[in-house]
Amino acid sequence: MLGKRIEKYWGGRAGSYNEHVQKEMACGKKQAWESLLVKYAGTGDNLRVLDVGTGPGFFAILLAGLNYSVTAVDKCEEMLEQARQNAAAAGKTIQFLQAEAHAVALPDESFDLIVSRNVTWLLPNPLEAYQEWRRLLKPAGKVLVFDANWHLYLSEPELQLEHDKYLKLAMKKGYKQNASPEQRQENEAIARKLPLTYQKRPAWDQQAFRQCDFQQVEVQENISLLVHDEIEQLLYTPTPMFAICASK
Ligand SMILES: C[S@@+](CC[C@H](N)C(=O)[O-])C[C@H]1O[C@@H](n2cnc3c(N)ncnc32)[C@H](O)[C@@H]1O
Repeated sequence: MLGKRIEKYWGGRAGSYNEHVQKEMACGKKQAWESLLVKYAGTGDNLRVLDVGTGPGFFAILLAGLNYSVTAVDKCEEMLEQARQNAAAAGKTIQFLQAEAHAVALPDESFDLIVSRNVTWLLPNPLEAYQEWRRLLKPAGKVLVFDANWHLYLSEPELQLEHDKYLKLAMKKGYKQNASPEQRQENEAIARKLPLTYQKRPAWDQQAFRQCDFQQVEVQENISLLVHDEIEQLLYTPTPMFAICASK
C-alpha cells in the first residue's frame, strides 16, 4: 500500500533529514523562517498551533520559541523520536502525536493556526487533508503551507531538463544531496504515484482551499530568496518554494 511505503521511506530518512534540519537550526535560516511565520501569523501569546508532518520538529520548535502552545504530528514514529529529542535539547515543551495529515484525532476547532512545510506534495489525498485542517481550526484560524512543485519535473520533460541543469550547476558549487541514490530513486518512484506530481502549485492549493470553504487565500509565489542559501536558490530556480496562507 502506498501509505505504508511512504511511511517506510520517511522512517529511513529520519537520521539524514534530522541532520539537514539541525543545520537549518544552527544558521540564519532559522531567523528567516521565524520572520515568515511572524509575517503571516504574528507571535503566539499562547495561541494553539498544530505543525503537520513535523519531521524532526523544526517548525514545532520555532513556534514554541515564538510563544505558541504547540502540538506536532507526523505519520512516522522515527521522525517523532528525532523531534522529541530536538525539542528536549532546545528546552521546549511540545505535544507530539503520531497521526496522518488527513486524520488527526483531536476535537473540532482545537487550533488558531496550522503550519506545514514540505508535506502536502507527498500526500496521496491532499484535499482530504485540507478539509481536516479546516475542521481542526477555530473560526478565523489560519493554515500556513510552505511547499514547492518538487516533482513536477517527472511529468514535464522541459522542466526535467531545467531540473537536471540546475542540479549540475548547484553540485559544481558544492551542493551535496542529503538522500542516498537508492533513497532518491524510491522517492521518485513514490512521487510518480502521487496526485500533486501532476498539478501546478500553488494554483492547485488556491483552488483546493476555496473548495474547502476557506474565506481568504493569500499566496507568495517565491520565498527562496528569503529562506534559501545561494546554492539552494540556484538549485531550486525551476521550482522555487511558495507560501500560502488560508483563513477559515
Ligand atoms: C519532507 S519531510 C518535512 C518535515 C518538516 N515539515 C520540515 O519541513 O522539516 C515530510 C514529513 O512528512 C511526514 N509524513 C509523510 N506522510 C505523512 C502523512 N500522511 N501524515 C503526516 N505526516 C506525514 C514524514 O514522515 C516527514 O516527517
